[in-house]
Amino acid sequence: MTAILGRPEVGTGRVVWFTGLSGAGKSTLASALYAELVARGERVELLDGDAVRENLSKGLGFTRADRDTNVRRIGFVAGLLARHGVTVLVSAISPYADTRREVLGGLPNATEVFVDAPLEVVTQRDVKGLYLKALAGEIPHFTGVSDPYEAPEAPDLHLRTDRISVEDGVRRLLDHLGYGA
Ligand code: PPS
Repeated sequence: MTAILGRPEVGTGRVVWFTGLSGAGKSTLASALYAELVARGERVELLDGDAVRENLSKGLGFTRADRDTNVRRIGFVAGLLARHGVTVLVSAISPYADTRREVLGGLPNATEVFVDAPLEVVTQRDVKGLYLKALAGEIPHFTGVSDPYEAPEAPDLHLRTDRISVEDGVRRLLDHLGYGA
């Protein structure tokens, strides 16, 4: 992220970045962690893909350029919040490894969480009915179907959501982030 000229880097908040396929469980885990941290009195904010696209990134599509713009915008806002000590939870497919590396690398305290479920599983879940449409060719550039998802090679945390419950996922997150269960 481009440094904000003239402003000291005062950031102490962490950014927890959930990446993964649509339907893998990013928003579910991020929301559950959000609720847990709020209950513990933490100052926390959630930047969720869908809400970001309704507001901050309204009008952007799903080309590589638009996704990269979206991910960089999210990183920028996350960085601003983190500078003020807020714990920021980001949920976005963020499919390109280079862009994730660039954006997360520009944040002083970022944790990359790979929310992983095989394509067959997310296709079966098809929570939003999008995979059926994508497989029928009705949605161009659909991640995992007609557009790439570059899985993190060395995420800070790797959660297989087809193998663990949401509660277990949150426990793993809390442990990893040092909150204790
Ligand atoms: S990205 O790649 O990070 O900019 O994507 P993101 O902002 O997280 O938006 C993903 C959500 O948009 C819906 N959607 C699509 N996803 C992938 N590919 C295509 N073409 C597409 N079109 C719409 C989908 O509901 C994603 O939501 P999640 O929460 O990931 O299921």
